[in-house]
Amino acid sequence: MTFTPDDLMYRPGLMNGERVLITGGGTGLGKVMAEACLMLGAEVYICGRRGNILEDTAKELMAAHPDSPGKVVGIACDIRVPEAIKDMVDTIWADGGALTGLVNNAAGNFISRTEDLSPRGFDAIANIVFRGSFFVTLECGKRWIAEGKKASVISILTTWVWNGGPFTVPSAMSKAGLNVMTQSLAVEWGPKGIRFNAIAPGPFPTEGMSARLNPGQQQSAYENMSGNPMNRVGEMAELANLAVYLLSKGSEYVNGQTIAIDGGQYNASGGNFSRMTEWGDDQWQAVKDMIKTTNEKDRAQRTV
Ligand code: HXC
Ligand code: NAP
Repeated sequence: MTFTPDDLMYRPGLMNGERVLITGGGTGLGKVMAEACLMLGAEVYICGRRGNILEDTAKELMAAHPDSPGKVVGIACDIRVPEAIKDMVDTIWADGGALTGLVNNAAGNFISRTEDLSPRGFDAIANIVFRGSFFVTLECGKRWIAEGKKASVISILTTWVWNGGPFTVPSAMSKAGLNVMTQSLAVEWGPKGIRFNAIAPGPFPTEGMSARLNPGQQQSAYENMSGNPMNRVGEMAELANLAVYLLSKGSEYVNGQTIAIDGGQYNASGGNFSRMTEWGDDQWQAVKDMIKTTNEKDRAQRTV
């Protein structure tokens, strides 16, 4: 994926002087956001556990955008390890001062029946998404507060934070935790100039996601998107435009929000009772009768 200036909505140089860390920025959506920030002039740090992937991504993006005053720097770091996070953040601050933005994007996920999960399986996901993202946020936040710096933090969530994620329960629980972190710190650290927002993407096919959520049927899963009001999956530039907006100074009054970018899919399929759209008149009448019986039984017991 290489963006051209027409893909993004913004004027060149919008992010000159910005310094952004994108966790999991070597692949997928993180790489897309890294490219957009670089293209608009930012200095971008990407981290992940596979050093060679980070190096390749940094080289590829810098080669694609040689005119950017910014740069992309890969730092191998496992965000499950708080000491490794501290080392990474020290390195970034030593390389040019405070970050102005953080994107909590790194994640682990796989589909599984919940009853098949072991404690290690749960931890494999929660330690990356829930704990890891918090520790990165904390490590940066302490520095921003001590230095009186402003910053914008974005967390990449899922629409499951609102209606649950059957068969992806550790991910859904962890992302929901980050949703609450976003709301909480928006208020606690907002007065210090550190704002928090989140993005809840719908389907944006990436290798990492497809291999773990649609194994064996990577293409076909996205061919029929008729359940999506826009009838398609997301385009990478659309996600990048939203991320850049939230990172930029022009959105400073936006704080504590989680924004879905899913073509309206969450609303169309949403609500935990969506399967009941298949019910006919008889079924609805039967339910109505049952509820009525309950109400009558309760009413009969009332003493006031
Ligand atoms: C049940 C599983 C399992 C599975 C792993 N485990 N896969 N359990 N079903 N399919 C269990 C293992 O058996 C083991 O437990 C434990 O998890 C740890 O496994 P490891 O392979 O040792 O873990 P690790 O090397 O730490 O890898 C972490 C990982 C892996 C999360 C399991 O998938 C990973 O590295 N993912 C990073 C990239 C990624 O997931 N990207 C997708 C993001 S997409 P036991 O007890 O057996 O030892 C996304 C999209 C959301 O989030 C929204 C879409 C619309
Ligand atoms: P991806 O390419 O697999 O991205 C996950 C990234 O996280 C990888 O670069 C991975 O690199 C990194 N990572 C995992 N564990 C890490 C750890 N312990 N420390 C540091 N980095 C780690 O998948 P993606 O689809 O782009 O997902 C990116 C984000 O978007 C995730 O938060 C995901 O939940 C979210 N999302 C995606 C979609 C979608 O449709 N694609 C939809 C909704 C939400 P290493 O393996 O090298 O560490």
